[in-house]
Amino acid sequence: MNSQNILLGVSGGIAAYKAPELVRRLTERGATVQVVATQSALEFVTATTLQAVSGRPVRSSLWDPAAEAAMGHIELARWADQVLIAPATAEFMSRLAAGGAADLLSTLCLASEAPLTIAPAMNRVMWAHPAVQANREILERRGVRIVGPDAGDQACGEQGLGRMSEPDAIAALMFAGEALPGRQGPVRPAAISKSRPLAGKTVLITAGPTHEAIDPVRYITNRSSGKMGYALAEAALLAGARVILVSGPVNLATPAGAERVDVESAEDLYKATHAHIKGTDIFIAAAAVADYQLQQVAKHKIKKSQVEISLELTRAPDTLASVAKLSPGPFTVGFAAETTRLRDYARGKLQNKNLDMIVANQVGPDEGFDKDDNAVEVFWPTGEKSFPKALKTELARDLIALIAERYQERLNASTQPDLPALSSRP
Ligand code: CTP
Repeated sequence: MNSQNILLGVSGGIAAYKAPELVRRLTERGATVQVVATQSALEFVTATTLQAVSGRPVRSSLWDPAAEAAMGHIELARWADQVLIAPATAEFMSRLAAGGAADLLSTLCLASEAPLTIAPAMNRVMWAHPAVQANREILERRGVRIVGPDAGDQACGEQGLGRMSEPDAIAALMFAGEALPGRQGPVRPAAISKSRPLAGKTVLITAGPTHEAIDPVRYITNRSSGKMGYALAEAALLAGARVILVSGPVNLATPAGAERVDVESAEDLYKATHAHIKGTDIFIAAAAVADYQLQQVAKHKIKKSQVEISLELTRAPDTLASVAKLSPGPFTVGFAAETTRLRDYARGKLQNKNLDMIVANQVGPDEGFDKDDNAVEVFWPTGEKSFPKALKTELARDLIALIAERYQERLNASTQPDLPALSSRP
């Protein structure tokens, strides 16, 4: 699918300056890119630059007789194997959600049957605004894939969620896609739901270790690279979900499209999770969270003036158990790393914490931590499944498929009408 035709729509925000680089990243991967810019996008980036990198004249008007004669807009809509809008401004998202067709780019989005991906970019307050979030939800329900926005420094000088995802990450996602359906028929939502079982769903994943400060320079931690949680985030994105990744300190790149919230301690992880849990459909606790925290963190570096010292530890809040208690709560998946009696301990945790599913793995000197592969046993109240050793990226895809299946089953069970009891029949 490398020789695909990508219609790149550029709408008018400051992140449009990244569009030429995005064109390069797409063409390097073998795509033919046709840029369609809105009038306001051309205030931020010139048509000359975009034409130079794409090798094709930029289209921007519905009323350009020469361009229309070369390839009419309906023809252009049919030409595209995928449509990508990057950056997608708040204004353009609202136009898409409303189905407007007053300009060339929105007309093309309406007239194309190709899968649509958008990479929103805007100020963090705008992104958080209920109007923008309502549009995001409408688009997601329609099967539009949404990449990002990422958290970080913003052009307006603020910090937060709203940056357009990096061009390389967006381009990679456009080709990640055996999971992506190819050209679709007119019944787009049905076509998408088969290969993107989590489209329109929000998944919150915790990942990585936590650091429990002892003093300003020392901490207690758990062994964890975060690779499993990050692979799950990537797999959930490919399955169409909106992903919030609450991450302890790790050395991993944020999967394109994930909304990453960085935390340090078990307490931070608890607070960040509960700040985002509302409206979440699935919660996956893949983080290796510290069970204990320092009762008192020393304000200054502890000097080695004594031969022995003791640290007083207290229990840290258990995020997984607290989410499992929420009602209504998300479909909740826990992890269990065990050195012995894996099955007994995992089933015990499933029951005690009232989880919908638990993923258990045997850990030891040569298993589990900081490796690229893993083998797991998955348990749920009415069943279990073994996954033999595989790359964490592959394992994550299988786990997400199983989670989506069990989640759907729980949903179906809760909407099933109660059958009348046999004894009450005449
Ligand atoms: N977990 C959590 N918050 C904590 C501790 C654990 O969210 N403070 C989550 C982990 O992300 C993982 C699961 O709980 O999904 C692991 O539980 P674990 O700590 O192994 O279970 P415990 O019930 O504490 O059992 P034990 O320590 O006896 O193994």
